[in-house]
Amino acid sequence: MKVPYEPFKIRVVEPIRLLPREIRKVKLEEAYWNVFGIRSEDIYIDLLTDSGTSGLSIYQLAAIMAGDEAYAGSRSWYRFRDTVRNILGVDYILPTHQGRSAERILYTSLMDMRRAYIVPANTHFDTGRAVILNYGGRPVDLPKGNITDKNDFDRFKGGFDLDKLDMLIKKEGPDKIAFILIVLTNNTLAGQPVSMENIRGAREIADKYGLPLVMDISRYAENAYFIKMYEDGYRDKPLIEVAREMLSHGDHFMMSAKKDGLAAMGGFIATRDEELYRYMQSKVVLEEGFVTYGGMAGRDMEEIAIGMYEALQQDYMGHRIGQVRYLGELLDSIGIPVVKPFGGHAIYIDAAEYLNHIPREYFPADTLAAYLYLEGGIRGVGLGLLAFGDDGEAPEYELLRLAIPRRTYTNHHMEYIAEVFKEIDERRRDIKGLRLVWQPKIKGVRHFLAKLEPVKNS
Ligand code: F0G
Repeated sequence: MKVPYEPFKIRVVEPIRLLPREIRKVKLEEAYWNVFGIRSEDIYIDLLTDSGTSGLSIYQLAAIMAGDEAYAGSRSWYRFRDTVRNILGVDYILPTHQGRSAERILYTSLMDMRRAYIVPANTHFDTGRAVILNYGGRPVDLPKGNITDKNDFDRFKGGFDLDKLDMLIKKEGPDKIAFILIVLTNNTLAGQPVSMENIRGAREIADKYGLPLVMDISRYAENAYFIKMYEDGYRDKPLIEVAREMLSHGDHFMMSAKKDGLAAMGGFIATRDEELYRYMQSKVVLEEGFVTYGGMAGRDMEEIAIGMYEALQQDYMGHRIGQVRYLGELLDSIGIPVVKPFGGHAIYIDAAEYLNHIPREYFPADTLAAYLYLEGGIRGVGLGLLAFGDDGEAPEYELLRLAIPRRTYTNHHMEYIAEVFKEIDERRRDIKGLRLVWQPKIKGVRHFLAKLEPVKNS
């Protein structure tokens, strides 16, 4: 097992503590067994998300101090805009306060302009899916790989099933398709990357039917790293060049800068289409803020302007992906059913297999999330029936995601997580499922807010 050496030293620290087990049990009960309801200070290692949780570099910190907080036309906006333009090669940029508002504004604008509501994707993530569903649209998942198939060693399982994409468009008619969406990397599908070949294939289909190709580039740098390391012909290219080639195939883009922007908050929309840009400008002013800040502070934009470049540094990314892999290998070595190959930002555990004595309706993934907190003070997130099943269609997988914040935890933290899993493993047959006691009326956000309780006899 290769230990991924950190290409940084730590000069600022945040204390964390492990509460006693009996207190953790009380915290869990108070949160209705939903880990979203637990205070972060009551958590020892927080792997709920890699979003907005990155460690800052000294360069970002310095830039934050110089943030320009002018309402219109701030220096920080131009620095931010120039970074995005330089990496994406796209002229029209609109700022938003985070990714989901970029999704809402871009996706609903495209649905409005095209009067079409079907959106095929390599797999939708929860927030984008919720936006489309709540706007009367139909998100369709057309993934290429089966992520829990242990005999499928494809390094790029995150892509589209291009035949299915073509068939869907033919069957429904291109007029009914709002746009084609590629999520890079594929978060719902265990953070699996998408190959350049698959991106080119989706581009060809978009051209064949005259459809827009939208890219969710929240983790674009991680996707570019996988292409560089594992796809023929890219090993010698700098990451930024691989990223530029990847992005050259998209028409419109949304980004949550809380991931590969290495920022605590922020996002943007980018497009090559002036008419669409003008249309969306008004929405940004109404919903987010003026078109030169869109809900971000100047200091946020400074952080992103630097973070987007730092995420493209080879030594940074080598450690980043290496640390995720290190945790994956540790868990694999003690027999935990982890999804392989390991993805970009997180390790995913097949909870349906691991807790196969718990019926699906008692949410094995969310149950495992609750027990991981109970046994080790660690917080992950369930991505299965609770997250994706409230429109009546059960998703294929029941996964526990352990998302690794960037530049935040050490390799020893990874080893601690594996120790906790060893302890859980001894008692896993005693774990009981969780029953849903309350869910919100609005679709697509159930797992964030649901209230649960342990089932007596599952
Ligand atoms: N797209 C993808 C692929 C995401 O993973 C997320 C957020 C968003 C869009 C929305 O961005 O949070 O800035 O509004 N994912 C986080 C996660 C929350 O934990 O995976 P946001």
